[in-house]
Amino acid sequence: MRRPRRNRASAAIRDLAQETTLTTGDFVFPLFLLEGQNKKSEVESMPGIFRLSEDLILKEIEACLKLGIKGFDVFPVVEERHKDKTATKSYDVDFFYLRTLTKIKKEFPEALIITDVAMDPYSSDGHDGILEDGKILNDETLDILGQMALAQADTGVDMIGPSDMMDFRVGYLRNILDEQGFTDTGIMSYTAKYASAFYGPFRDALDSAPKFGDKKTYQMNPANIKEAIMEAELDFNEGADVLMVKPALAYLDVIQKLKTNFNIPIAAYNVSGEYAMIKAAGEKGWLDSNKAMMESLLSIKRAGADIILTYFAKEAAAHLDQQR
Ligand code: PBG
Repeated sequence: MRRPRRNRASAAIRDLAQETTLTTGDFVFPLFLLEGQNKKSEVESMPGIFRLSEDLILKEIEACLKLGIKGFDVFPVVEERHKDKTATKSYDVDFFYLRTLTKIKKEFPEALIITDVAMDPYSSDGHDGILEDGKILNDETLDILGQMALAQADTGVDMIGPSDMMDFRVGYLRNILDEQGFTDTGIMSYTAKYASAFYGPFRDALDSAPKFGDKKTYQMNPANIKEAIMEAELDFNEGADVLMVKPALAYLDVIQKLKTNFNIPIAAYNVSGEYAMIKAAGEKGWLDSNKAMMESLLSIKRAGADIILTYFAKEAAAHLDQQR
């Protein structure tokens, strides 16, 4: 007679029988960078998450490294006056995002710094590609992504993160980087990025919501998983170092599928809306947000994610530290 409850009878056996363990080393912390100095503003829909200016972001990274967080994904908050149809600020070497990346890498060479390659933060249309006559142009967008990726690589960052979902972009970027001598710059590809409602608070944070239509002609249909495998095959063959699934919680099956089919690290992006939901319910007293946070992060790891991008990184790191 098998009695599974024997292996749940005490904290000690539960610990020993535990199949999946979350560690602080699994986390990448997304950060929102503001232009200027000594500026800090909380994202209203993401309590506890702040847009930070350069000086404060350097301090934040230092604090996170002390907690054991090793990876950071930096996103720029671009003022409306700097936006245009072709995202020219994205590859302007004098623009604050690129300047700050250089400083971050200089000050913390041990940190893994990831950037975002997509037009939307710099686009007056709020889209990840060039918008013309109501259409997003694929191949014309690649040219801009290429310039953006080169400018970012030149700051010394470790990995670029194309989050745009244009076709061929991984191979295109890998080629350009290699041609220009950036053979050590990695690519974490947003491989299965779904057209999701869970990005809402992120678009508040960057003020980057599309001003026309939606992103369904380039981001994936939430109903599809075979398509995710096809996207992963392309990105894998085009030279991606890491494949990402985004969002995470509503797509655990996709994470698992990629984990079993591709022998490179799989990342999952526990996105802004997933953070906001837990925070909001916690504030209302409807659930224990700390426990819900740890449980959802654990589920993402159990599904197969090697790397978890999460706004909970700091809180979860503190929690894991207490448990030790
Ligand atoms: C933009 C980008 C988005 C996110 C990361 N990069 C938003 C979007 O595609 O509209 C979302 C992250 C989050 O919701 O936490 N290319």
